[in-house]
Amino acid sequence: MGGALARACAGPDVQLSLWGRDPDRLAAIAEACLAAGAKVETRSLDIADVDAAIAAARSEDMAAPFDLALLVAGLGETRAPGDLVEAAELVARLGTVNFTAPAAIGAALGERMAARRRGALVFIGSAAAFHALPFAAAYSGTKAGLARFADALRLNLRPHGVTVTLVSPGFIDTAAGRRQAGSQAGTRPFALSPDVVAHRIMRAVQRRQAHLILPWPFALLRLFDRALPAPLRDRLLLSLTPPA
Ligand SMILES: NC(=O)c1ccc[n+]([C@@H]2O[C@H](COP(=O)([O-])OP(=O)(O)OC[C@H]3O[C@@H](n4cnc5c(N)ncnc54)[C@H](OP(=O)(O)O)[C@@H]3O)[C@@H](O)[C@H]2O)c1
Repeated sequence: MGGALARACAGPDVQLSLWGRDPDRLAAIAEACLAAGAKVETRSLDIADVDAAIAAARSEDMAAPFDLALLVAGLGETRAPGDLVEAAELVARLGTVNFTAPAAIGAALGERMAARRRGALVFIGSAAAFHALPFAAAYSGTKAGLARFADALRLNLRPHGVTVTLVSPGFIDTAAGRRQAGSQAGTRPFALSPDVVAHRIMRAVQRRQAHLILPWPFALLRLFDRALPAPLRDRLLLSLTPPA
């Protein structure tokens, strides 16, 4: 998804900074963006080292101020087969990568953007945040936390000329997404291609949209979850099975 967003942003007069852990993946995305005329830098960094990620965000913004920061990185692991609950270590890892790191980087950049009175932040959450998924308590919980953080940060920064957009995708047809869903297309209803999602995200940013839920059936599911009586909702959620 990060690669599709980078390609959607790339063009002449655009300067990109691409972050990730895998230098080869970064280099391949950088090459495509360079071919589209963008200036590109890459940074190989594990955002689980939150202090290093905050420092890198501040120093890059000092050198070349960001107009737009897309916080895309996330882990989608769920409860392992046979486990009663998710392993404590997994819960801790997802807490750091899915919530603490993007929230902290967003805060660091948001503060600097507010001082310039311009800028946009995008947080990639998940439609899983709308539901208490028993086999993915950490994933749905960390994404729900990120969603609440993004909404509150949006209100905080709005008077200072900075916009915040939360994106809550259902299924995106990435390799990681397919892996999480047991690699069967049928288990990922309404899956969208990363390029379509990237295009919709860039349009939402231009419109200064607060929340983008896509595709639309996941917005309906969210309402359905809220409207159901609790015992019925619990029974439905318990009947959901984790990915194979
Ligand atoms: N695919 C879906 O169906 C779906 C649905 C809803 C929401 N989402 C969300 O969309 C986002 C992108 O998902 P995706 O499907 O594109 O997954 P992906 O292919 O696994 O991409 C995840 C990205 O996060 C980076 N990343 C992971 N851990 C990192 C770390 N500790 N430090 C730095 N970078 C790290 C990875 O880069 P490196 O490997 O180079 O580190 C990779 O670029 C995630 O936040 C995910 O939760 C996905």
